[in-house]
Amino acid sequence: MCGIVGCIGNGAVEVVVEGLKRLEYRGYDSVGIAALSKNRLKVVKDAIKVEQFLKRYDLSEISDTRLAIGHTRWATHGIVSEENAHPHSDCKGRIVLVHNGIIENHHELRERLLKRGHRLRSDTDTELIVHLVEENYKGDLLEAVRVAVGSLVGSFALAVICADKEEMVLAKRMSPLVIGIGDGMIFAASDVVALLERTKRFLFLEDGDCARLIPKGIQVVDSESGREVERRVETVVWNVEDAEKEGYPHFMLKEIYEQPRALQQTIGAHIDGANLSFRQANEVEQLFEGVRKVSFVACGTAYHACVVGSYLLRDFTRLDYSCDVASEFRYAPPPLDEKTVLIAVSQSGETADTLAAVRLAKERSARVLAVCNVRTSTLVRLADLTLFTLAGPEIGVASTKAYTSQLAVLCALFSHLATFAGIGLDKRDGELLRKGLLGLPMRVRQALEAAEEVTDRISKEFFRSQTFLYLGRKYNFATAYEGALKLKEISYIHAEGYGAGEMKHGPIALVQPDYPTVAIVVRDSVYEKMLSNVEEIKARKGPVIAVSSVNDEKVKRLTNFIMEVPEVSEPLYPAVCVVPLQLLSYKIATLRGCDVDKPRNLAKSVTVE
Ligand code: AGP
Repeated sequence: MCGIVGCIGNGAVEVVVEGLKRLEYRGYDSVGIAALSKNRLKVVKDAIKVEQFLKRYDLSEISDTRLAIGHTRWATHGIVSEENAHPHSDCKGRIVLVHNGIIENHHELRERLLKRGHRLRSDTDTELIVHLVEENYKGDLLEAVRVAVGSLVGSFALAVICADKEEMVLAKRMSPLVIGIGDGMIFAASDVVALLERTKRFLFLEDGDCARLIPKGIQVVDSESGREVERRVETVVWNVEDAEKEGYPHFMLKEIYEQPRALQQTIGAHIDGANLSFRQANEVEQLFEGVRKVSFVACGTAYHACVVGSYLLRDFTRLDYSCDVASEFRYAPPPLDEKTVLIAVSQSGETADTLAAVRLAKERSARVLAVCNVRTSTLVRLADLTLFTLAGPEIGVASTKAYTSQLAVLCALFSHLATFAGIGLDKRDGELLRKGLLGLPMRVRQALEAAEEVTDRISKEFFRSQTFLYLGRKYNFATAYEGALKLKEISYIHAEGYGAGEMKHGPIALVQPDYPTVAIVVRDSVYEKMLSNVEEIKARKGPVIAVSSVNDEKVKRLTNFIMEVPEVSEPLYPAVCVVPLQLLSYKIATLRGCDVDKPRNLAKSVTVE
């Protein structure tokens, strides 16, 4: 996730710098500014943070400008480097552009542009766009951008300026982009937080919009037809602090609702939608060459992702495996050697126990594959290969969008390993799983919509409960553990995740009328078994809250509440079933007056043992 700011008017660079600072919650590893000064475009950019940037570069030489754009990068394509930082320029340096999003057909565009003699300076997908604009530019920047975006597959928010005129052109698809209207100034930004100190009046662009901003006004057109479209100017009431949560009361709630977009970005970065291929096939096959075993290691929520990964490994490959929490692994490691791949999963990439486990595995010649959300983290530097989640910075202590993005990455990985000679079990299954992944963002969005009202009712009914039991089997065994962890870490209610098959070996002794059980009973291979477990609990008068498939009359009759989720292929259920559990935990915690974003005793990243 990146940040974009643009301004037309006096003091434009000052406005852009101010806005870039406010976008820091979006996370960034590089920063850059372009300004039109004395009919030339001046670009200043570097792979450093905003504060360091302002210390290192003297921007006074462009302070006279009335037209500027700026960008904070959260690297997706291309390493963190000055060349890959935005803004990017066309061949002649007459057009510059900043971008937030992922261009999925970047390979094909790169080949096409190189064949046509364009000089490409970076590894980014973004740079390709400015060269497409250059090809179409004949004096009308809006028209050039409108035609250029017609060649793009993927998501984008663009801000483009050129040396010929005092105007800025914007384009939007899937990534956020707003226009701010000030006194004698016009602004653009990835979200209102960047501009709230300058204006409260905004025009929210919609997918498929292109816009031309000039000092005297705004023109918005449909990018396909070129016809003008009307967009209302709205006044926002947020103060700067709130707006960092984009209107949500807590970062956690915002991040729960960001999951469809986080999944879209993550899956888009790993699966080529055009031919259903796994983008990092070569690097992964190189890493797994001759490998016989996988050792999963992580902490907390990331460990639950590893548990799901272990089921994927069993279903899609013939590999041996171990799966441990890092704090146990490092003191009692399984056999490790050069034929082992250690899969270390971590949102922050800084968790001390996980890093210690990785260092131990490397000492014993194991290869390390990281699944991580922070490019500049220690784990990424230690790993032989990293498959990134593109969830954007996760600020709420309770992990939500990073978790579902981790699940998506592990599904993508094992969908490819399924096809890998000597390791894989069934090529066709791998392709089907990749196809299912492409629809996952929409399924998660549907699960969110379905959960909204019912979790209000359930949380009001049970927020005073002293304890909860969560039950699941097979792929949803981990969902039971993750659902319990979400509840206990933000509401401080004791909650226990359990394999449902284990009920009769002890936990069923706990069941009584004020002991709610959350059971994950979806139409998967263990559906009938889960139904029997629910009947055992009902027979002892325990209240049951089910996560169930849509329109399941059997489950409806048997349980007190149901949270419906859309049907998906079995390996994708953990990512869908966890969504109502996240929302339920959030609502119970807020009813109990807990500090949801900063729960007591916890930290976002446990960088100590
Ligand atoms: C999850 O909600 C918790 N915040 C915690 O268990 C977390 O998952 C764990 O500390 C691992 O963090 P990491 O993914 O950054 O390594």
